[in-house]
Amino acid sequence: MMYRFRRLRKDERIRSMMRETRLHPKDFIYPVFVIEGEDIKNPVASMPGIFQYSIDRLGEILEKVREAGIGGIMLFGIPKQKDPEASQAYVKDGITQRAVRLIKENYPEIYIVVDICLCEYTSHGHCGMVCGDEILNDETLPYLTRMAVSLAEAGADMVAPSDMMDGRVAAIREGLDKAGLAQVPIMAYSAKFASAYYGPFREAAHSAPGFGDRRSYQMDCANGQEALREIAADIEEGADIVMVKPALAYLDVLKEAALTFDAPLAVYNVSGEYAMVKAAAENGWIDEKRIVMENLTAMKRAGAKIIITYHALDAVEWM
Ligand code: PBG
Ligand code: ZN
Repeated sequence: MMYRFRRLRKDERIRSMMRETRLHPKDFIYPVFVIEGEDIKNPVASMPGIFQYSIDRLGEILEKVREAGIGGIMLFGIPKQKDPEASQAYVKDGITQRAVRLIKENYPEIYIVVDICLCEYTSHGHCGMVCGDEILNDETLPYLTRMAVSLAEAGADMVAPSDMMDGRVAAIREGLDKAGLAQVPIMAYSAKFASAYYGPFREAAHSAPGFGDRRSYQMDCANGQEALREIAADIEEGADIVMVKPALAYLDVLKEAALTFDAPLAVYNVSGEYAMVKAAAENGWIDEKRIVMENLTAMKRAGAKIIITYHALDAVEWM
């Protein structure tokens, strides 16, 4: 017998009842870039619609986030002063700490996740301490921990280590607990691949490595099995949420993780993925709205509980 699948696709009334995956504003986390200085709203050339804001103008974007009712923001700070020890990452009055305090005070309804990594703060642009041309693992852990504790003390609701040093989740968890911050959750960038899709972000966050690349700490894009081991290790170390990044080229990894683990999963729809959609849309080659909703729906269908995306504000409007 031929089954007639089309009976349940006849018109939008029945299609919407049959729909298995539905996007909601609370699915999204919106990345926000805060830069040192005054009266700044810098467009990021490779990411149309995305800007770096100075603290005094951060309100412009926070109002929109609040109005959209999205889940929260992922905050990235861009300091003026960079040095080999990334000192601006963990000083009390660092750019990111000040931004967190301002948001906490004026927009208490916005959930603040802060990206924990040193590459925006180091003069060499790597995610850890450097010796010669080596990126050091164990020596980096105390710095990441200090950064996480400092930002949680400033009022961050959640910390999200993206550095890919081994053992950082355990180190940060211990640091937070010792500082009386046991209630602050960790979202680990667990399966983070060494990807060309981060190109536009490095312009946005001034975080391109000054020499070499990130392949000695981020994952090889060919490895799915290893991704599961990375995720298992982070859960073991105490991660509350685990992440796969980038999204579209790694939905197989996301799906596999969803079937394997019961921890909440996040996916990062990264800058290069956003840039490709925007570029094609601006040329009139694709229908931006439909492409964005299709991509985001696919991420949720594959198993993401949280989607970190530069499309968040647009997507809410299109829902
Ligand atoms: C910092 C960090 C990066 C991204 C998030 N956190 C860049 C990198 O690892 O080089 C990428 C985000 C994006 O491309 O949108 N380590
Ligand atoms: Zn980094």
